[in-house]
Amino acid sequence: MNYNLKLHWEKIYDEKNEDEVSWFQKETNESIKMIQSTEIENPKIIDVGGGRSKLLKNLIEIGYNRLTYLDISKSALEKSKKFLGGQSNKVRWINEDILNFKTDERFDIWHDRAVFHFLKEENHIKKYVDIVEKNISDGGHLIIGAFSENGPLKCSGLDVSRYSKKVIEKLFIKTFKLIDSFHFDHITPFNTTQNFLFSHFVKR
Ligand SMILES: C[S@@+](CC[C@H](N)C(=O)[O-])C[C@H]1O[C@@H](n2cnc3c(N)ncnc32)[C@H](O)[C@@H]1O
Repeated sequence: MNYNLKLHWEKIYDEKNEDEVSWFQKETNESIKMIQSTEIENPKIIDVGGGRSKLLKNLIEIGYNRLTYLDISKSALEKSKKFLGGQSNKVRWINEDILNFKTDERFDIWHDRAVFHFLKEENHIKKYVDIVEKNISDGGHLIIGAFSENGPLKCSGLDVSRYSKKVIEKLFIKTFKLIDSFHFDHITPFNTTQNFLFSHFVKR
């Protein structure tokens, strides 16, 4: 566990409301559409770095129930659990640094919005790639929303990596085929725009 990083995120989720952070989304439509497009029956889904996203709630509403939430921040996890109320038992809750995530479980759908792009060091990026290669089932899907080449240089005070289609495709190409890629302008609660690149891969 990277404790400085954990402290950074704990402070944010302790001090700010869900709609006081730049990545806040009222709707999670793009992610839902990509998840539904997989057409996998009753898939095991993980939302990596779920923060206080409404994604899992929205997935439960449309019938998904094999769900895992992972985040480095315990505070984000507890607040998300509370938000789901009686439905929180449909989710497996994991408080962990994704780079330390060790499990024998295989997920059919791995969703990551605005988490992967915080990895800056080559060995951390490689480790993340190794983890997804190991923990996604054969034929499973990897969905990543990261800042595009036109996106911000920083998020929540931290430097980020920005991705083009070519660069992100190359990182995962050994094990994954890119089946969809699109840019999306996220409008923050402060009325600024952040350009994301969404990449949808399938494990070969
Ligand atoms: C910009 S927020 C995005 C949150 C959520 N995915 C969303 O779209 O609303 C980044 C999230 O990733 C989490 N995070 C950052 N680094 C992480 C790591 N190494 N392992 C696990 N979670 C991490 C943070 O706590 C935070 O909740």
